[in-house]
Amino acid sequence: MFARAIPAAVFARRRRALLARMGPGSIALLPAASETPRNRDVHHPFRQDSDFYYLTGFPEPEAIAVLAPGGEHEFLLFCRERDPHMEIWHGRRAGPKGAMERYGVDNAHPIAEIDKLLPPLLENRERVFYAIGYNPEFDRRMMGWLNQVRGKTRTGVRAPALFVALEHLLHAMRLRKEPEEIAVMRESARIAAEAHQRAMRACRPGRMEYELEAEILYTFIRHGAGWAYPSIVGGGDNSCILHYTENNAPLRDGDIVLIDAGAELDGYASDITRSFPVNGRFSGEQRAIYELVLAAQKAAIDQVRPGRHFNEPHDAAVRTLTEGLAALGLLQGDVEELIKAEQHKPFYMHRTGHWLGMDVHDVGDYKTGEDWRIFEPGMVTTIEPGLYIPAGGKILDAHWARLGVHLETELDERWQRIGIRIEDDVLVTDDGHEILTAAAPKEVDEIEALMRERR
Ligand code: GLY
Ligand code: MN
Ligand code: MN
Repeated sequence: MFARAIPAAVFARRRRALLARMGPGSIALLPAASETPRNRDVHHPFRQDSDFYYLTGFPEPEAIAVLAPGGEHEFLLFCRERDPHMEIWHGRRAGPKGAMERYGVDNAHPIAEIDKLLPPLLENRERVFYAIGYNPEFDRRMMGWLNQVRGKTRTGVRAPALFVALEHLLHAMRLRKEPEEIAVMRESARIAAEAHQRAMRACRPGRMEYELEAEILYTFIRHGAGWAYPSIVGGGDNSCILHYTENNAPLRDGDIVLIDAGAELDGYASDITRSFPVNGRFSGEQRAIYELVLAAQKAAIDQVRPGRHFNEPHDAAVRTLTEGLAALGLLQGDVEELIKAEQHKPFYMHRTGHWLGMDVHDVGDYKTGEDWRIFEPGMVTTIEPGLYIPAGGKILDAHWARLGVHLETELDERWQRIGIRIEDDVLVTDDGHEILTAAAPKEVDEIEALMRERR
């Protein structure tokens, strides 16, 4: 849901920054997202394209933004015309006039006129920036407009010589969050943290996974947010399926439930995972695994600060997890050898984090050249280590697997059906970090105390 929490001046500032980076002789084109059919005449809920929204704040489909530095009109928008009949059935439209009045557009035109009005804008430009290759329909139209310009070269018109992928400039901007974005992300995180607390309070043996999902969605929607990605609610063995979204099994006494759910507020995602006992009390084995993941998560979060690189949290998590698995007897051998052989991988097969922003797996490079990116203030990353021991308890030896030998250990029944992930959203600050999702309880005592208050 896009509530326009970001002021219009911020969008204008972003456009100015991008125009300055593009340089003279350039033009950038960005299409809005399209409506996608779901079944018969029903569409999926419309979600604006993140890049388009970042620069325009314009919430409608069937629009194309054009940014052209140096001229009288630097920000042009092609959009749907007003239409009383369509607006009665499907909702309001800004129309070109409304776009100019309310969205800072210098000059707006009906989208129906784009094939006539766009090619002249490409004439005598050196470089065209757009998201090459992501949208086949837009690629095709782009080539059509280019060929229209080429058709006029004998009249002295020059066609653009360079097509440049827009994301390098734009995604570098999106990676470092502005104060206005951080404010919205804090609120998105606060809502998601409240949702996880509500789900903990509602949980008890016999409830269905989808009942906890309902508590989560209720909290998102009552705060004017939506979901950033389909919520994962997995009890027992389902807690070991990383992207489980069926959410249709009963929650059983003695099992763990893992909830990975984040809100989307005005286009900004939060991304939280909490894992807790269905009956409100961790068993000895559940607690041992949980405390280990929590220690790994804290060690990883400690690495999030200016000057550290993106992979340092992952290295810290892997070290803590491997030491802990060895201490519990779930891995055997020398810790340094185990780390070198990546023996954590059968228990922990994903990475420790990703950029977070308008997209849950947000844009921005993870490396500059060969080197991991150094954290800078304004970047936001998730920190989400986990350990997963499914039913059957069969753990493949990672070292032998790489050599093509299938060697499994079978862990005792009491360790099985335990999937634990603990995920927070962490902002890099000038002197360290801020955990945006800190309001979601994660200490064993806090979780057990909260669950004792259940309704
Ligand atoms: N919820 C998706 C993720 O944690 O990456
Ligand atoms: Mn995540
Ligand atoms: Mn997540």
